[in-house]
Amino acid sequence: MSQENRPVILVVDDTKTNLDLLVHLLSDHYEVSVALDGESALEIALSDQPDLILLDIMMPRMDGYETCRRLKMRAETSDIPVIFVTARRETTDEAQGFALGAVDYITKPISPPLVKARVKTHLQLKQAHDQAKFQNIILEEKVRQRTSELQETQLAIVRKLGRAAEFRDNETGMHVLRMSHYAQILALACGMNEQEAVLLLNAAPLHDVGKIGIPDPILLKPGKLTDEEFRVIQTHVTIGAEIIGNEQSPLLKMAFQIAYTHHEKWNGSGYPRALRGNDIPLVGRIAALTDVFDAISSQRPYKKAWPLEQALDWLQQESGRHFDPDLVSLFLANLPKILQVKERFREIHT
Ligand SMILES: [Fe+2]
Ligand SMILES: [Fe+2]
Repeated sequence: MSQENRPVILVVDDTKTNLDLLVHLLSDHYEVSVALDGESALEIALSDQPDLILLDIMMPRMDGYETCRRLKMRAETSDIPVIFVTARRETTDEAQGFALGAVDYITKPISPPLVKARVKTHLQLKQAHDQAKFQNIILEEKVRQRTSELQETQLAIVRKLGRAAEFRDNETGMHVLRMSHYAQILALACGMNEQEAVLLLNAAPLHDVGKIGIPDPILLKPGKLTDEEFRVIQTHVTIGAEIIGNEQSPLLKMAFQIAYTHHEKWNGSGYPRALRGNDIPLVGRIAALTDVFDAISSQRPYKKAWPLEQALDWLQQESGRHFDPDLVSLFLANLPKILQVKERFREIHT
C-alpha cells in the first residue's frame, strides 16, 4: 500500500512514553499522528481527518471524555471512531465512554497484539461504514435524477398534448405561451407560492385540449356559429376534463381544473356548471382572465388585435361580470410584467 493510502491514526496521550510506545507499535502499518492534550487532538482531528483515534482518558485540563464529547459534537469529526486507552478498570467509566460514542476500550498496560487487532478491526468497520454511506449518497443521487427525468417527461408530454390541441385550432403556439405566463404572474400576485405558480404555468397550456374532440366544420367555421354549433363548441371543456382525467399528479389535477372551469364566469353566467364567484377554482378564474385577455389583445388570422387600451377597458368592464374583480385589479397592477410577456412572445406576422 502506498504511503498516502495508509490509514491515519491519531494517538492522544499526555505521557510521552505512552505515545512513543503506541507510535512504535502502529507506524509499520499506519500513518500515525500524535497529540499531547485534548485541545490539540481536536485541532488535528479536524485538519487531518484521521481514520481512528486512540484517546487517553486521564489528561490535564480537557480529559478524554470531554475530548470525545467534542469530537462527536462536530459533524466533521463525529464519524471518526474513538478507542479509549485507559488505566482505569471501573465499569462505570466504560459505560460513560460508550455513552459518549466510543467504539472500544483498551486498558493499560497495553498488550501489543491486542492493540493491533482492535485497531485493525475498527478500521475495517469504519471502511465498511464509509462505503455504505458513499453508496447511499450515490443511490440518493440516482433517485433524484430519475425523479427529475420523470418530471421532465411528464412536462414534455403535457406540452405536446397542448400543442396537439392547438393544431386543430387556428391558434398558434404563442397564445398558450402568453396566456400561461400571464397566469403565472397573476398567481404570484394573488399569493400562490412559487411552486404552485410554476404548476399553473405548466398546466394552463392544456386549457383547450378538449378542442381535439370538436368536429372540424364547427371548430374551424369562419362565420358566426348557430346556437347548436355553439353548444357543441362548449363541450370542449368537458371533453378536456375527460381527456386529462382524474390523475394523482398535481400538474394534471390542476390542468383538469383549468380545462373544466376556464369558461365559468364570476357572475354565474358561464359554462359548463354556471359556477359563481369563489365557487370557481382560483386557477380557473385566472385562466379565464388571461385566456380572454390574450384572445382579444392579439391578432388571429380572422381578426385584428384590439388596441391595448381597448382590451384593458374590456377587462374593467367585465370585472365582477365575467372576471373576478380582485384578479382584474391585480392584473392591471402588474401590467408592466404582463406587457413584457406580451412582447417576449410576440407573433411574427409576415
Ligand atoms: Fe376554452
Ligand atoms: Fe385559449
